[in-house]
Amino acid sequence: MKIRTLLVGLMAVGLSAAAVAAEPIVIKFSHVVAQDTPKGKAAEKFKELAEKYTSGAVKVEVYPNSTLYKDKEEMEALQLGAVQLLAPSLAKFGPLGVREFEVFDLPYIFDGYEALNKVTQGAVGQQLLAKLEPKGIRGLAFWDNGFKSFSANSPIKKPEDLRGKKMRIQSSKVLEEQMRELKSLPQVMAFSEVYQALQTGVVDGTENPHSNLFTQKMHEVQKHMTLTDHGYLGYAVITNKKFWDGLPAEVRTQLDKAMAESTAYANQIAKEENDKALEGVRASGKTEVYTPTAEEKAAFKKALVPVHKKMESRIGADLIQSIYKETGFDPAKL
Ligand code: LMR
Repeated sequence: MKIRTLLVGLMAVGLSAAAVAAEPIVIKFSHVVAQDTPKGKAAEKFKELAEKYTSGAVKVEVYPNSTLYKDKEEMEALQLGAVQLLAPSLAKFGPLGVREFEVFDLPYIFDGYEALNKVTQGAVGQQLLAKLEPKGIRGLAFWDNGFKSFSANSPIKKPEDLRGKKMRIQSSKVLEEQMRELKSLPQVMAFSEVYQALQTGVVDGTENPHSNLFTQKMHEVQKHMTLTDHGYLGYAVITNKKFWDGLPAEVRTQLDKAMAESTAYANQIAKEENDKALEGVRASGKTEVYTPTAEEKAAFKKALVPVHKKMESRIGADLIQSIYKETGFDPAKL
């Protein structure tokens, strides 16, 4: 592009010539899921909008599917400044010392996207993101994925069916307690290793929103899946605080705009993408999909909601109460 054309373009979006170095500012965005997922698509949307709104002053490189970093490495890399954007699952902030994010893992705490969004898009969500600041991390947004189903190689109709099973989980103490409550054996494992662990029998089963299960082909190595909707999996989009604060103000304004629009997009496509993935699983004929009856679902709830009380000291009773208040969830009403 000719320099003059570039400058005219930049002025049109309110960027001063000084904001644009000869070399574009490179933002590496690393994540662990496939491109064809709510997070994968939203990362691509952010790239498109960020490059457009800054007229090329920013270049976003998206690395999907753990091609740049795996779960644990990516957090370290962000703090070191080797990568600029991540969107880890909310279940992966415990090892960083921010235990409060594990509140999102409490079984059945959200009765759907509407209840969830009251928290993520409201004051409680903002307070949670602020907890990242002392770690050198700026929380930019919450992106939705979806509600999880249990899968294994034997049918799952009641909580007892998972007894003794080795179940892969993300690195969350709440998820660990959830599995212990079912008397199954939780195994923390990076997302990039799950397919193989299921295929080789290192673990017997797992839990996923359908988009993750389907795009990683886990349904090809799991015979049964039950639509328990027992928990939520979603993301916090995060950046290195020093990097973000060091950006030219005009560039940051444009990136904030790109982030706000990509967030709306992510949260608009999440349910649809998960529904499509579930159809894909069904159509494959490889995993038998079971819809529990109301009584069966109630039995899972009864078995799992005690996890809330047990994890109070880790997450904070006040935080749990403030979420109940937003969503109207009442454990006494089960
Ligand atoms: C998982 O590890 O199962 C998920 O956190 C992966 C993801 O980023 O959705």
